[in-house]
Amino acid sequence: MSSFAKFVPPPTFLTMPCVGVDISDTSLKYMSFVAETNMDGSKKIKQWGDIDIPTGVVQRGHVVDQEKLSAVLQEFKAATGAEFVRVSLPEERAYLFETTIKKGTPLKEIRGLLEFRLEENVPIPSKDVFFDYTIIPETEDTKSIRVAVVAYAKETIQHYYDACVAAGLHPVSFEVEAQAMARAVIPNDSVGSTMLVDFGKTRTGIGIVHRGVLLYTSTIDVGGDALSQALRRMLGEELSEQELTELKNTQGLIRGVEKSEVSDTLLSTISVVKDELATRMQYWHLRNNNSDERRISSIQLTGGSSNLKGLPAYLTETLGVTAVRANVWENSLSLENTVPPIGRRLSFGYATAIGLAIGISEQ
Ligand SMILES: Nc1ncnc2c1ncn2[C@@H]1O[C@H](COP(=O)(O)OP(=O)(O)OP(=O)(O)O)[C@@H](O)[C@H]1O
Ligand SMILES: [Mg+2]
Repeated sequence: MSSFAKFVPPPTFLTMPCVGVDISDTSLKYMSFVAETNMDGSKKIKQWGDIDIPTGVVQRGHVVDQEKLSAVLQEFKAATGAEFVRVSLPEERAYLFETTIKKGTPLKEIRGLLEFRLEENVPIPSKDVFFDYTIIPETEDTKSIRVAVVAYAKETIQHYYDACVAAGLHPVSFEVEAQAMARAVIPNDSVGSTMLVDFGKTRTGIGIVHRGVLLYTSTIDVGGDALSQALRRMLGEELSEQELTELKNTQGLIRGVEKSEVSDTLLSTISVVKDELATRMQYWHLRNNNSDERRISSIQLTGGSSNLKGLPAYLTETLGVTAVRANVWENSLSLENTVPPIGRRLSFGYATAIGLAIGISEQ
């Protein structure tokens, strides 16, 4: 499993109660499960919640004001009593690449080999990089092993690490948000590749996952806020965010019988996201020589703004791949036996925190 293990304290910490913490530009969301699972293997939620992060503290995944981020983390610690945390890292700052190594390479040599490949794949000096890798499970017998590498500038991780420590928290691991999200939402029996689209407040995160391993990430600078802005320009500046959310979630992209100004306005903004997704999909298919095995077979939507009415149908129609709103509890709770304390609409924003929390209890 991918987690920046080298960077974090000794493994004894891993058995301690631990909380998943998803830090984005605008909010901190957390989740933890009770250590014991139910008879059917499903989990029980222990703690969850979110705390606003003031504007400007984290910008596009870069910690601008470490002290203020630390204050938010202190607030989180006061609310939960947490000591050990698993923290997500922003897609905006991640460098991902795929490479092959000879089959039979001893495990202890793999890191050293990959270190030499950083130079040609990551645009910052290797000495300033932290990286981790995951072996991609293969079905066929091949001569080589495919490896997915995730790298970050040391500085990026250090900022998050220091902010946690200053708040009295011990980070046990760090992980790219889309990888955590994949663990929460992608069904175990899924085939091909899955595109994860995290439609948040200020941005849209994209991840492409194959056999459970994150192989591609990217972000688009358009989120739910852009939809609100477009609606305000059209309908008037005085509309509250709550009213706009209502419009997005109940009318959304569905054309009214008489009036279609709301759907037309939303469509013109959302089509930008759709175009960007189409470009990424084409790139992915080209990069993989249109391999059937790696073809994107579904799109899973997460993030609060995926509540936009009509979004799954719109994307399915325009991109030609089935898009669904994710079940964020897919790999943790059984919805047949449990009613989660987080309503469905709110749940889409919790996918990353849930994935981090699953990671903890499975270690
Ligand atoms: N019913 C809902 N509950 C919560 N958020 C909603 C709902 N409907 C729409 N939203 C929108 O979802 C957005 C929040 O989504 P999310 O929690 O995924 O964002 P975030 O992770 O804080 O932001 P980002 O990923 O952009 O940094 C807000 O713009 C909010 O208006
Ligand atoms: Mg988010």
